[in-house]
Amino acid sequence: MTDRDTSIGTPDHGVGELWGDVLDRFLSRRGFLKASAALGAATAASGLALNAPAADAAGLDFTPIPGDPPDADRLVVAPGYRMQVLIRWGDPILPGGEPWSPERQSAEMQERQFGYNCDFVGYLPLPYGSNNPNRGLLVVNHEYTNPELMFANFSLSRLTREQADIQIAAHGISVVEVERRPDGTWRYVPNSPYNRRITANTPIQLTGPAAGHPWLVTSQDPTGSWVLGTLNNCAGGKTPWGTVLSGEENFNGYFDNAGQIPTSDPRRASMNRYGIPTGMGRYQWSRYHDRFDVAKEPNESFKHGWVVEIDPYDPTSTPKKRTALGRRKNEAATYAINPDGRLAIYIGDDERFDYAYKFVPTGRFNPNNRAANMDLLDSGTLYVAKFNDDGTGQWLPLVWGEGPLTPANGFGSQADILINTRQAADALGATKMDRPEDFEWNPVNGKVYLVLTNNSDRGAPGRAGPDAANPRPNNRAGHIIEITEANNDVTATTFTWNIFILAGRPSDPTSWYAGYPKDRVSTLGAPDNIVFDQLGNMWVGTDGASSAVQLNDGLFAVPLEGSERGHLQQFFSAVAGAEVCGPEFNTDETTLFLAVQHPGEDGTVENPISTWPDGLPYPRPSVITIVAENGGRIGMAGSTGRQAASRPTGGLGDLFRNLLP
Ligand code: FEO
Ligand code: CA
Ligand code: CA
Ligand code: CA
Repeated sequence: MTDRDTSIGTPDHGVGELWGDVLDRFLSRRGFLKASAALGAATAASGLALNAPAADAAGLDFTPIPGDPPDADRLVVAPGYRMQVLIRWGDPILPGGEPWSPERQSAEMQERQFGYNCDFVGYLPLPYGSNNPNRGLLVVNHEYTNPELMFANFSLSRLTREQADIQIAAHGISVVEVERRPDGTWRYVPNSPYNRRITANTPIQLTGPAAGHPWLVTSQDPTGSWVLGTLNNCAGGKTPWGTVLSGEENFNGYFDNAGQIPTSDPRRASMNRYGIPTGMGRYQWSRYHDRFDVAKEPNESFKHGWVVEIDPYDPTSTPKKRTALGRRKNEAATYAINPDGRLAIYIGDDERFDYAYKFVPTGRFNPNNRAANMDLLDSGTLYVAKFNDDGTGQWLPLVWGEGPLTPANGFGSQADILINTRQAADALGATKMDRPEDFEWNPVNGKVYLVLTNNSDRGAPGRAGPDAANPRPNNRAGHIIEITEANNDVTATTFTWNIFILAGRPSDPTSWYAGYPKDRVSTLGAPDNIVFDQLGNMWVGTDGASSAVQLNDGLFAVPLEGSERGHLQQFFSAVAGAEVCGPEFNTDETTLFLAVQHPGEDGTVENPISTWPDGLPYPRPSVITIVAENGGRIGMAGSTGRQAASRPTGGLGDLFRNLLP
């Protein structure tokens, strides 16, 4: 969900002085980290080192675009590239689905159509196990709904059952087959046997240590082991075994009336920590469905806030909420892997002053037996990050019986810890971050990147002040932290870290682009979702640049290594009101899939600020494709589109296959 940082005015807490202190500490630490990085590189035995790019060759070769002002209702891409809408909210994907029209919406039809507010986009090649760049499955999260842009004259106080049910059906996840035609353009395949809609009404299993916990028992489910629906699916990640992890983020807003639970009931404190509304919330589906009314179903909200694993290659499979990974406002869940097949799953909890997590499964990835991997995420160790001011850090285990995580402090079992992950992390003294969003491992340089969107409350009265990892008070533009796991082992319990980018206008004295000359970078504001290309460059989409830096959201590319490190350049700009999600490449990186989420947000059908993509006052969240006019690799096809691209082939699939015995 867009959580625009709308605070205004200048900070009132001595930015200059604080900033100077923090910068001193941070820059002196850089010297230390550079020295230790050199030492690490010299002794690295990991196969990852073989994939590192030449020191100064990041491969990026495109002409950057300037940012667009926030009222510009157009898409812009770098010269030499073509954009196309691939699939829009309401496009029919299942048999019986009809083309969307504003007057003929129904829940039954929406269940056969592409959902609203597309966020995560994953390309999974067809058939399974191939590296096919031309045909695959797109898995797309549908995070939330904007009823004021879906229905004419919408009024929450006059919400109808049909409007509620259409929104329920517009949430969740879509799986849709896509293919590249001989002319190089992409289309989705209506009625493919792989196509699927998972909605806020689809039966989903709860697995792992918290399944069956008394707090998960409802009148619908006396076993505490299944639930109807997945909510607020924001970003996500693909696993090496071809499943998708989808993060349930702001699930709290779907529930009403937590104030009816007595404060003496321990469930009430938990609801408060997760922000379940005490009165009526933002969607008010409880007016037609009791499960969203906490007064009637006090445990239903505990069945949400999990990471959901789905198998897009099996349209009959039951999605699973993996409770071992903990419960929070999951931005995403992304994997990292060691050469021996041991894994880590990184997860950000997107709330001001919340935490960054890592889950290490007990088992290993088995590249020769897909079925053996399908329940890997049901057992393992969950950790939360502590960032020390000296550039070191620890992964603190959230393990029952250890430290303060005991019955004396209200934790009677591991399941209690998982349901109340935030309180357990509070008890351990984890580092309060500036809205942890995408948190991803870069298989090329072996480092892990934590994207922090913003936090205007940092340093506000009564709130946590700046620290080395969150160094700016009133952090309106966000930042990106670079983490090196000890010995490049993704299961390590210690790490070192440094700040990669402090976003903001280059003229802002507190912005910092890895030391790159700021007169040569584009303006990044409110970084959110990232992906890495096969040379290891980071591509970063933004959510909330309009309030952070007064520009439309966009997509940017930035090298992480060599003399171009920090040279961030804008590749794409979205329409008014939209954030940029996905981002995702096909396997040969000649196509970029982007989600244009909530175009026109802050407008209404009656007073639209965007009419994209159809020219109607109903803007439609859509996934687009971007290809180079010369068919070359995205971002590397030259500034005119005439230059031939030259890069090694082989997708991420090849990469981890190469790493494994
Ligand atoms: Fe759904 Fe944290 O963005
Ligand atoms: Ca968002
Ligand atoms: Ca997001
Ligand atoms: Ca990502």
